[in-house]
Amino acid sequence: MQILIVDDTQSELLELKAILDNMGLKIVAVDSGSKALSCLLFQDFVAVLLDVDMPLMDGFETATLLRKQTRNLHLPIIFIVSEPILDSERIKGYQLGAVDYILTPIIPEILRSKVAVFCDLYRLQKQELVISQNLQDKNTLIEQQNLKLLESNEAIKQLNKNLESRVNDALIKIREKDHLMIHQSRLALMGEMIGNIAHQWRQPLNSLGLVLGNIQDANQHQQLTPEYLAHQISEGQRLIQKMSTTIRDFQDFFRPDKKSEYFQISRCITNSIELINDSFKAHNITITVHLSEELVALGSPNEYSQVLLNLFSNAKEAIFDKHPDHGGCIDVQLRRAGSEACVTISDSGGGICDSALQHLYEPYFTTKIHGGGIGLYMSKMIVENSMSGRISASNGEEGAQISVFTPLPPIGVLL
Ligand SMILES: Nc1ncnc2c1ncn2[C@@H]1O[C@H](COP(=O)(O)OP(=O)(O)OP(=O)(O)O)[C@@H](O)[C@H]1O
Ligand SMILES: [Mg+2]
Repeated sequence: MQILIVDDTQSELLELKAILDNMGLKIVAVDSGSKALSCLLFQDFVAVLLDVDMPLMDGFETATLLRKQTRNLHLPIIFIVSEPILDSERIKGYQLGAVDYILTPIIPEILRSKVAVFCDLYRLQKQELVISQNLQDKNTLIEQQNLKLLESNEAIKQLNKNLESRVNDALIKIREKDHLMIHQSRLALMGEMIGNIAHQWRQPLNSLGLVLGNIQDANQHQQLTPEYLAHQISEGQRLIQKMSTTIRDFQDFFRPDKKSEYFQISRCITNSIELINDSFKAHNITITVHLSEELVALGSPNEYSQVLLNLFSNAKEAIFDKHPDHGGCIDVQLRRAGSEACVTISDSGGGICDSALQHLYEPYFTTKIHGGGIGLYMSKMIVENSMSGRISASNGEEGAQISVFTPLPPIGVLL
């Protein structure tokens, strides 16, 4: 820290120096206002002691000019006056801001204490400057970090957007693939179903043959009355109707899916059984159905039937595998299980072997020589993805028990 003293009288300069000595200040002494101004141009001072009574440029003039230097706008000035000054001059000094007066002869303690106050002020100002500089630096840092954060947020947003659209694209592709697989697996079931159509047509076709034989016999024996003919024709039409219903049922099953709808589960059970019943009967497999109440599910009834047909087909194959000659039985139960509808298909095929239990739903997992390992994988996919349900498998006393759970619709949905 340094202090500037300005006095045209050398002896007074020396006196001032002596008073301010030992205050820890560097003392810069000059003997004119102009020299003072050039010192103040580039250097920092705690305060300036300014003799008012100087030739050429007096103290007030010097003060007025130094205030014009922006760096000295608030520099404390102590005017040294040799006699009490007029109020008008005092006011003139005060208008120059941050000023004080001291009268000669100077009382050292008074000057020293005044200068000490300015020193403290200077120190405080410097500290404040450092603090505000620090604060400014920190603010700049925070602003830069905020900017970086904003940029990163923007980048993350962009990434998320891209990711979202890529996930959506992938999901759409997976959905499309799922649908394709479901359809392909339904087509695969068709092979089996054609065998079932043959079974279901065998009996009405035989009967139709008998009806035609009856007409021929009656004609040969001249017993073909109009009433008899009408009766036989109506019987023939009934049989043809039955066969055409079978075809329609199969066609319905293979018809492309409509969008999701509420449907009665019991109807799906009955329809699926109708498609396979004759064929199963021919293999001595009896199907028993227990419907405790009408329950509704949301999804595609055809896909649900596809699940049931897969389960029936597995049950038939297990029974066939265990007792190729005796046949067996399949039990179908529909019940409410908490907030879900549950269809359990139990068979007497001996059950699922332990090693298979944990792999049942993996695609292409099969224990059969000609199996594709698609049935349960597909069933699980339909039940979980299209119907928000679940599927579970366990072994009962006589064989496997596969349960299909689907969420019950909100109260009020009735069909
Ligand atoms: N009711 C059942 N009883 C015994 N084992 C079963 C039963 N259902 C399924 N499994 C076992 O689970 C395996 C997988 O069944 P899944 O229906 O997925 O394929 P698959 O019947 O072998 O072939 P696909 O259905 O493609 O013709 C079967 O190979 C069989 O070992
Ligand atoms: Mg199968």
